Amino acid sequence: MPEAHKSLDTSTEMGNGIFITFEGSEGAGKSTQVRLLTEHLRKTGLPVLTLREPGGTELGEEIRTLVRRVDFAEAPCAEAELLLFLASRAQLVREEILPALHNGMVVICDRYCDSSIAYQGAARSLSLEQIGSINAFAIGKCVPDITFLLDLDPLEGLRRIRLRHGSEADDRMERESVAFFEKVRNGYRKLAQVEPARFVILDAHKPVEMVHEKIYDLLCQRFGTTFKNH
Ligand SMILES: Nc1ncnc2c1ncn2[C@@H]1O[C@H](COP(=O)(O)OP(=O)(O)OP(=O)(O)O)[C@@H](O)[C@H]1O
Ligand SMILES: [Mg+2]
Repeated sequence: MPEAHKSLDTSTEMGNGIFITFEGSEGAGKSTQVRLLTEHLRKTGLPVLTLREPGGTELGEEIRTLVRRVDFAEAPCAEAELLLFLASRAQLVREEILPALHNGMVVICDRYCDSSIAYQGAARSLSLEQIGSINAFAIGKCVPDITFLLDLDPLEGLRRIRLRHGSEADDRMERESVAFFEKVRNGYRKLAQVEPARFVILDAHKPVEMVHEKIYDLLCQRFGTTFKNH
């Protein structure tokens, strides 16, 4: 077994990089916006690392396969599901995110700590306090500098997913009900209210390009010295 990433202390500062996360319910456009932002920043010459959750490491990608599986005889309980996501996150922080931030990179992550609160907390009703503690254990001080919440009507999100998949089967999460995704949406909105300095809520019903421009403009405003010259 390779040596664990012990040397990186998550209680220390995050380095000079910028950590950007995207959140939102199924089909809100996270992966689309992550791709557009990555391409835009790469063209301007900024060093960018793009990651996704669960996944982004060898361990995380195995966990991704597990949590998306639909053929378990007994579906994973909410607690087990939460811990699987958190295991993937803990590895991602130490193996990828912190080293990149210490190297001054812009790190873009498709889902991160807030997904656990919205999905396993707001929607699956696990204790928000307990999720907060386990999240803190997994990420330490590796909190995003800015989080874009793509806010979308769940019915529209599910419609987009069906269009995207064509005949491809839904994963386990996508088989949840509209009521479940309403809870996810409301959970995210509450989170954004609690941390207005970190969250930016975006209307994800707007066209892809318009959402992207808003994201880029906001980043220029927020991180002017890094972004404006590019
Ligand atoms: N603003 C938009 N307007 C219309 N369609 C969109 C918009 N953004 C994304 N889409 C389309 O909706 C589908 C879902 O988008 P995407 O995969 O980016 O969402 P996601 O939030 O990453 O979903 P998931 O939670 O399943 O990963 C894609 O087919 C994409 O092209
Ligand atoms: Mg996606």
